[in-house]
Amino acid sequence: MSQFTEVIPRRGTRSVKWDMAEELYQDKDVLPMWVADMDFKTPQAVTEALQERVSHGIFGYTVADHLFRDYIVSWLERRHDWKVDGDWISYSPGVIPSLHMIIQALTEKADAILIQTPVYPPFYSVVNEHERTLVKNQLKLENDQYRIDFEDFEQKIIEHEVKVFILCNPHNPVGRVWTKEELMKMGDICVKHNVKIIADEIHADLVFKPNKHIPIASLSEEMKKMTITCLSPTKTFNLAGLQVSYLVTPDKSLREPVMNQFKQQGIHMLNTLGITALEAAYKDGDDWLEELLDTLEAHRDYVTERFEKETKSIRILPAEGTYLLWMDCRKLGFTQAELKKFMQKNAKVGLNDGASFGEEGNGFMRLNIAAPKDLIVEGTNRIINAVKEIE
Ligand SMILES: Cc1ncc(COP(=O)(O)O)c(C=O)c1O
Repeated sequence: MSQFTEVIPRRGTRSVKWDMAEELYQDKDVLPMWVADMDFKTPQAVTEALQERVSHGIFGYTVADHLFRDYIVSWLERRHDWKVDGDWISYSPGVIPSLHMIIQALTEKADAILIQTPVYPPFYSVVNEHERTLVKNQLKLENDQYRIDFEDFEQKIIEHEVKVFILCNPHNPVGRVWTKEELMKMGDICVKHNVKIIADEIHADLVFKPNKHIPIASLSEEMKKMTITCLSPTKTFNLAGLQVSYLVTPDKSLREPVMNQFKQQGIHMLNTLGITALEAAYKDGDDWLEELLDTLEAHRDYVTERFEKETKSIRILPAEGTYLLWMDCRKLGFTQAELKKFMQKNAKVGLNDGASFGEEGNGFMRLNIAAPKDLIVEGTNRIINAVKEIE
């Protein structure tokens, strides 16, 4: 059995996705297809490196040295044609902590911060919790594809004197991988109005051909100076529980205040096992990642086709990247509360509520396809059978 087809029980492992599902969905038979982690084992090379490190038995203070940094530099060049200098890299336990730190380091209370909605829920909370002003550039859904309203993007920046733009690329939950033209346009507007860019590129490695992830900071000297890019091996290699991530900040005048903010909060070290896992994944994980991408692409196509052929009221929007499918359920004609209840009680699947990504997500749900095919088939059957009963 291949590493991507074996169903591995996760209940009882303190898994958020599996062990919190019963409490959240009030039903022990709900199949969890929500939280963005995978039901696949990390590459064998990563497990072996961790086992070796664990068998050493000493887990004292650990340094992220030059050799470790070089694995990141090499990964970014190899996978994304992006040449970065080791000195631009700093570390963080996670992308969400980084967003909090950057917002605090670069903005003041009430400063305007731009996001593109619908979007990953912490983008809202990271702005609101620090009492900054949330400004939305709504993505436009045209012919089944989300597009950027550039006129609105620039208008909002001018009107609210936006200080920072948080980019999500690839975009969670709509699955777009922004093209070079789209990134150039956004970047040029930000440069013109002196808006700094926080690029959350955590899903960068999870892109389906022929799409290509382009780090926005790689596009021009000006964009490089304006951007802090947040990256991590945790989505790619299923390591979220090990809490390891990094920032790439080429410009010293941005890097220093952000690093100071981390220092002021006493965050100065990475998790020992996180370091070991990143190193092994970036050193030996390429072949595994190619196989993962083939698997996810096949799952995406399978689910999309089944819904296309067998239902009239649910449509899967085309995902160019991420393992998260954005399901357009508006034709079911339910309120959001009814839609959630239908998925839980009738279909017995645990999905992410579309409305948690913003009001634009009303009528939508998010489905995670990073699980063995048997579970994907089971989840798809459950939803389609429930829909058929009411169509
Ligand atoms: C766009 C985006 N950013 C950040 C995260 C979480 O990052 P971390 O676990 O490193 O805090 C996720 C997880 O789903 C995500 O989708």
